[in-house]
Amino acid sequence: MSNNIVVAIDGYSSCGKSTLAKALAKKLHFIYVDSGAMYRAVALYFLRNNIDVHNHEQITQALKNIHLNFHSRDYQTHITLNDEEVSEEIRLMPVSEKVSEVAAIHEVRREMVKQQQRMGHSKNIVMDGRDIGTTVFPHATVKIFMTADPKVRAERRFKEITGKNPEITLEDVFENLAHRDYQDTTREESPLVRADDAIILDNTDLTPTEQLEFALDKVRPFVL
Ligand code: CDP
Repeated sequence: MSNNIVVAIDGYSSCGKSTLAKALAKKLHFIYVDSGAMYRAVALYFLRNNIDVHNHEQITQALKNIHLNFHSRDYQTHITLNDEEVSEEIRLMPVSEKVSEVAAIHEVRREMVKQQQRMGHSKNIVMDGRDIGTTVFPHATVKIFMTADPKVRAERRFKEITGKNPEITLEDVFENLAHRDYQDTTREESPLVRADDAIILDNTDLTPTEQLEFALDKVRPFVL
């Protein structure tokens, strides 16, 4: 088996990218990287330290002070921000509301993309995000672009987070996803866009098992 198979999974907010990416990585024994968790951790740092997203000096300094680390246990993303486990906090609403603004900053993207490219160097990897097949790994072995009905996406995310965010309504979640999709697709740098050679996967009516089968069919020829 080659040791540099890269599977890039991009798509809209909450359309099952990480569910698919984790399952695929587990099945194929690849490394899994949730690039969104990195932007979320940076957004958390910006929130905690009141970093002004228009102040380039503050941003540059903040990026020097941010050290991210992934610890993958059973393909669940555990991310530390300066040695503090923040995997749960980055999923809460304050971070979801801030992250797309922070992810649009040039300096932030440059640094995250650099780290992501390093993680995929000479390894078999599945990475999910918004710009993986376009900017991070434009020569990825397989590119999948995921989409699903916005209402279905909001319902799925609502079910996932309502335990930890009991005050959140389905409408709040719907609006947050719509807002992030808007920001992610219209930003100047590396906007969310389907790479020309990405395979579209609409999972509105698919179960997690069905979407895994779809993706495995695309990746298997490169693994055998
Ligand atoms: O899981 P969900 O779809 O809610 O989003 P995520 O993958 O955790 O990503 C959170 C946010 O980070 C996105 O809305 C984007 O603004 C940003 N992001 C990005 O700009 N580029 C990536 N490669 C991954 C995430």
